[in-house]
Amino acid sequence: MPRFLSRRDKLRRAVRRNSADALLVTNFTNVTYLTGFTGDDSYLLVGAKQDLLISDSRYTEQIEEECPELNVHERPIAESMLQAVANATAAAKIGALGVEGSSMTVELHEHLGKELPKTTLVSTIGLVEALREIKDKEEIAELQEAVRLAEKAFEVIRASLRPEQTEREIAANIEHQIRQFGGEGCSFPPIVAVGSRAALPHAQPTERRIGESEFVLIDWGAQARLYRSDLTRVLMTGKISPKVRDIYRVVLKANRAGIDAVRPGVLMSEVDAAARCVIEKAGYGKQFGHGLGHGIGLDIHEAPRLNSTSKRPLKPGMVVTVEPGIYLPGIGGVRIEDDVLVTRAGKKVLTTSPKDLDACCVS
Ligand code: GLY
Ligand code: MN
Repeated sequence: MPRFLSRRDKLRRAVRRNSADALLVTNFTNVTYLTGFTGDDSYLLVGAKQDLLISDSRYTEQIEEECPELNVHERPIAESMLQAVANATAAAKIGALGVEGSSMTVELHEHLGKELPKTTLVSTIGLVEALREIKDKEEIAELQEAVRLAEKAFEVIRASLRPEQTEREIAANIEHQIRQFGGEGCSFPPIVAVGSRAALPHAQPTERRIGESEFVLIDWGAQARLYRSDLTRVLMTGKISPKVRDIYRVVLKANRAGIDAVRPGVLMSEVDAAARCVIEKAGYGKQFGHGLGHGIGLDIHEAPRLNSTSKRPLKPGMVVTVEPGIYLPGIGGVRIEDDVLVTRAGKKVLTTSPKDLDACCVS
């Protein structure tokens, strides 16, 4: 069975379990996952038997290229998306229409309710996102390619690092290198944080120069075609202080403990705990304020989440980041992030960039 139809069939079963006759998919990334169509401004109606992509003439050719097998309603200029959805729902005699609670706007929900007084709107959460958690072979291959592109770009950055370069220049060069190697670009705006800037887990690159400190944290990733990687390394560009050396040692140990804990059946909270307890034991528990990791795929942050409240088991096919960190305001921070595929036998670490302290010294 074709890949996208099989996804929509799985979704159909989930929609039925939610007591709805159909689902209106309003999250564009979910539409891509279910159809292969990469444009936006288009919704997908997944019905009991048939599916309908509601789009407009800007995408006519693209739809023919990307998902020629799909039923399409091309909205004329005079027809609003609301009207098109209402018409399609009425034509299909849908009594209970599932909607995506995390992406449908309150405005569309209210208007749709008024347009379709005989239809019950059933709010659903995460039906497509749950399918997206488990990657198939093609998705895994693309994620591997996204890691490869990111790592190749990083090798160039690393080899050409100079004291006069600014955080912003390095971020721009990462994007450039990924494109040079054939990727779509960065999977998110890179974080390049020199010295004390690395205490900000989501630092935005500034004009600060590499030479202004003895280390730089780089959190970056590549988008291969559609899929995204996410890595973090800290490069030592000078003689580091005992404090930075100490937190590096602790974070690396936590990163390894987190990766070791990954296997099918283990609770996500247990993986978080495996890394967190290393940091807590070293006395830095309060300086690790975020979850251990997250799923990657079409989005840079997607389900599942590895944190203390995720009490679900890992399953083969999930791809998650493991990214413990310690952040010390005024001093700096260390985060080490890898991408890990859960396999039937255990795990496969997709990322290969060296992370031993010695290997990260570039001065
Ligand atoms: N790599 C940083 C983040 O996932 O937020
Ligand atoms: Mn991440």
